[in-house]
Amino acid sequence: MLVLGIETTCDETGVSIVEKGQRILSNKVHSSSDIHAQYGGVFPELACRRHIDALIPTIEEALKEAKVTPEQIDLIAVAKGPGLIGALLIGLNAAKSLSIAWNKPFIGINHVEAHLYAAMMNAPRLFPALGLVLSGGHTLLLKILDVGRYERLGTTVDDALGEAFDKVASLLGLPYPGGPHIEALARLGTPRFPLKAGAVKQNPFDFSFSGLKTSVLYALKGPNATKKAPSLLTPEEQCDLAASFQEAAFSDLIHKTSLALPTRALYFGGGVTCNETLRSRFQTAFPDLPLFFPERALCVDNAAMIAGLAYHKFCASPKSDPLDLIPLAKIPFYEV
Ligand code: KG4
Ligand code: ZN
Repeated sequence: MLVLGIETTCDETGVSIVEKGQRILSNKVHSSSDIHAQYGGVFPELACRRHIDALIPTIEEALKEAKVTPEQIDLIAVAKGPGLIGALLIGLNAAKSLSIAWNKPFIGINHVEAHLYAAMMNAPRLFPALGLVLSGGHTLLLKILDVGRYERLGTTVDDALGEAFDKVASLLGLPYPGGPHIEALARLGTPRFPLKAGAVKQNPFDFSFSGLKTSVLYALKGPNATKKAPSLLTPEEQCDLAASFQEAAFSDLIHKTSLALPTRALYFGGGVTCNETLRSRFQTAFPDLPLFFPERALCVDNAAMIAGLAYHKFCASPKSDPLDLIPLAKIPFYEV
């Protein structure tokens, strides 16, 4: 079974062809992050214009690279949310149009669930397991009972972790997306600033990164300083601050994950899990627990994870979604 996946939730236009939920025949991604770099975050209208320009050529490229014709495709899968509503509409309308033109079924996929599936795609499935999705829009700790069956343990009550990385990067004068820049800076520093991520009284598994980001602001620019105030730290001290921010965030993730043990394995998903320091911190903290990280290209937004997960969804319920399926900017995770 061949699935063509489409991903347009944010600033990446992705199209991929995946066989039987596992074998990636092509995985094309066109990012518009270059145009967002100057704004410190994604500019939705500009992201949408890029999706419109990029989507049809990317579909053609993905088919060509996979050496597959439209007749050979069995299913079209598209990210239906959560994400930017305009961007989602573009992908969803393309999927519906292809479904009509090629006479193939199509289904909508939850983007966050797909991030988690990326780690399971070519890994053993050791369930029950824990999952951690850490991206620009989402921070989720959950229990995985099976592909498609989850229990949400915790989420962020304010900023997503990737968003916190992007905001801290912007404070340090670094371009969007900030995660890789913070990681590079942190590598040159020592975590000697006493920073801490927030605890959430109502639920020990929930996350809060907004206070941590404000602590970085005050450490960098002085107590109660505004974002526009000049930095008071030397370049070396800024590296130490980046390292301290990372250390505070990662030790918080490790602590909250440890509260949910025992488990058979831990699966990671989302752009922040590209971070090498995060990977080695978890490996050191849980030496006996099988940890599954997606390969780098599958951590960030991509369509292979959409096509891969769609295979399982369609096998479980082999019917097309209705043509009036609407995109959802927000989807509570239990409504996958
Ligand atoms: O999963 P993703 O591509 O998109 C969303 O669904 O949001 O994640 C993008 C996020 C951005 O916030 C970016 O700064 C962060 O992932 N990111 C990283 C790294 N690479 C990307 N954060 C920390 N360290 C990295 N190496
Ligand atoms: Zn994503």
